[in-house]
Amino acid sequence: MKISPSLLSANFGNLDNDVRMLNNSLADMIHLDIMDGVFVPNISFGFPVIKFVQKIATKPLDVHLMIVNPQNYISQVRDCGAEIMNVHQEACIHLHRTVQAIKNAGMKAAVTLNPSTPVSSLEDIITELDMVLLMSVNPGFGGQSFIPNSLKKVKQLKELISLSGSKASIEVDGGVNLETGKLLAEAGADILVAGNAVFSAQDPLKMIEELHNL
Ligand code: DX5
Ligand code: ZN
Repeated sequence: MKISPSLLSANFGNLDNDVRMLNNSLADMIHLDIMDGVFVPNISFGFPVIKFVQKIATKPLDVHLMIVNPQNYISQVRDCGAEIMNVHQEACIHLHRTVQAIKNAGMKAAVTLNPSTPVSSLEDIITELDMVLLMSVNPGFGGQSFIPNSLKKVKQLKELISLSGSKASIEVDGGVNLETGKLLAEAGADILVAGNAVFSAQDPLKMIEELHNL
């Protein structure tokens, strides 16, 4: 299982230390959660923080934009060194145009679905996507409980990907721990985002390893 630890639960008083810890871990990517206080009822951090992380990170950056009008920030996200740009389906009126613009900017394009947005909403774009990010909590906060219906959505997405011939990978975000991670692995997830489970663990490196071994 690939793991993308979320810095939302990191120690912002010593981010340098936490990013270096991730560099030395079995993490495959670093997940960055950008919130604008409009699309979600919370505000996190913005471009200066992503740029700082990019300077020291040796892992690809997986940037999750929980913002309205994400299409207005594609070049800024690219200039921060993002490898993958995740935009919410619910935030994009012209999703196809936005996905093309992300790819034209040289990044991998991922579309994120809120828990109430059906997998079927991606039927006409799935072959264009590098990744789909399924939210297994309502976006905005770390440390929430996993919504069990997400397991069904992973299976539906897996089926849509195989029927369409899409190469998209399946990432899941929210309430991931060793228990829910095992269920997600069985359901067919490829990448797990984990914030609280990693950064509140006694030994974050060991937790990443255990999640990786699922
Ligand atoms: C939630 C964010 C998540 C968050 C996950 O809106 O998108 O990436 O950091 O946190 P945990 O793993 O604590 O549920
Ligand atoms: Zn996220």
